[in-house]
Amino acid sequence: MKIGILISGRGSNMVALVDAVKSGEILDSEVAVVISDKANAAGLEKAKDRGVEIVVVGRNRRSREEHDAEIIAELKKREVELVCLAGYMRLLSPGFVQAFPNRIVNIHPSLLPKYPGLEVHERVLAAGETVSGCTVHFVDEGLDSGAIILQREVPVNVDDTVESLSARVLEQEHGAYVEAVKRIVSGRL
Ligand code: GAR
Repeated sequence: MKIGILISGRGSNMVALVDAVKSGEILDSEVAVVISDKANAAGLEKAKDRGVEIVVVGRNRRSREEHDAEIIAELKKREVELVCLAGYMRLLSPGFVQAFPNRIVNIHPSLLPKYPGLEVHERVLAAGETVSGCTVHFVDEGLDSGAIILQREVPVNVDDTVESLSARVLEQEHGAYVEAVKRIVSGRL
């Protein structure tokens, strides 16, 4: 299965997926391209170091639809069959979602449907939650609202900060994302 990964920043989830494909943990697949909407995304260098083709598609004051159309074209050109959002910080247009029906997945740092959107860990801490975690889900036209593939939980400690909680969740994200993609590639989903 040809995989395309979209990032906006650090790219640690992208690295987890690329390394799992390269090591054979995720079978019968190839990461065909890593696309970033930000030219300065730190993840771009990490993808390049791993021999994966990188493409920057900047927003450049275009509409969401025009921007997405260019990304779709880059993905289709490489015959990408599965799109993984990995810290890609823009909402997709309906046209993007329809271009890859049931073949776009995202990782989100909360136990959805709780805490969709941004500043997740801040809100989890402010609400006094004792458990948080991450969710891998299919992307639909809503905000973090598509069908859930899997979740992993972590405890929230009384002395947690945004940094300590996000690091604990991130550790679980990497394994969760690899497991979810394995299920999709092997046809179990
Ligand atoms: C991850 O925690 C991911 O769950 C989150 O951004 C971080 C990206 O880290 N995604 C979202 O909040 C999506 N709305 P990474 O660039 O190191 O993978």
